[in-house]
Amino acid sequence: MNPLASHSEFSESATTFRSLVESRRAARQFAAEAVPETIIRDCLELAALAPSSCNLQPWSFQVVRDPARLQQLQQVCLGQSAARAPLIIAVLARPDTWRSACADVLKLWPEAAVPRVIDRFYKETAPFQYNQGWMGWRGFIKRQMVRVLGYKRPVMRTPNSLMQMRLWAVKSTALAAQNLMLAFQSHGYSTCPMEGFDEKRLKKILPLPKEAIPIMLLAVGLPGVHAIRNPRLRFPLEQNVTWL
Ligand SMILES: Cc1cc2nc3c(=O)[nH]c(=O)nc-3n(C[C@H](O)[C@H](O)[C@H](O)COP(=O)(O)O)c2cc1C
Repeated sequence: MNPLASHSEFSESATTFRSLVESRRAARQFAAEAVPETIIRDCLELAALAPSSCNLQPWSFQVVRDPARLQQLQQVCLGQSAARAPLIIAVLARPDTWRSACADVLKLWPEAAVPRVIDRFYKETAPFQYNQGWMGWRGFIKRQMVRVLGYKRPVMRTPNSLMQMRLWAVKSTALAAQNLMLAFQSHGYSTCPMEGFDEKRLKKILPLPKEAIPIMLLAVGLPGVHAIRNPRLRFPLEQNVTWL
């Protein structure tokens, strides 16, 4: 354990959070026992509490519990042992849902009246920012505008292409994925995030929306006896941190 973990200035909640984060490891072997649906729902709710760009929540999840489909998924995951789990959640980034999400924010606004500034943002600013047009033609024009305007003042330069929209969605979705893993961990379930899979074959097994980007398949279950194969390794903090 890190010596900082027992620092006397740290609050109880900080210590609790550290122990949760430290306890999460990528598990490579799971028990066969099913994960209760109440727990899955709780974890998905916590995943959705992740921050997202303009709160547009550009993610979706497909929960796979059907044994036949799980078996197919294990093959799609190149036969890796982590994929032999009683539950796999496909975590999908959704660069395609911003338009309906803008409408949903206004529809579901948790106050009696939607503030004017919010209404305007989701009806004008956000659509301008995220609409890249057919084959990205709007994005192309926006890139030229930004280039000119950017000479004089700071401007927001992305996302201004279909490719950048993919990155835009992946950023927020990765945060939701981390919440999801920690949530399962808090319930005593282990996880393994997997990007080792055949995306083309995955599309034949799961009903993925056309624009969805499967950023990872998350294996979930109670840890098996051989769940952890290697000791934890992290680079020294100073190797990747710059203090300015
Ligand atoms: C995006 C991503 C993809 C990963 N893909 C796989 C995978 O396909 N198979 C696997 O066994 N582990 C996979 N891992 C788990 C990592 O190998 C693991 O997180 C890393 O070695 C650190 O170990 P720890 O999570 O136990 O601290 C992946 C992790 C991430 C974040």
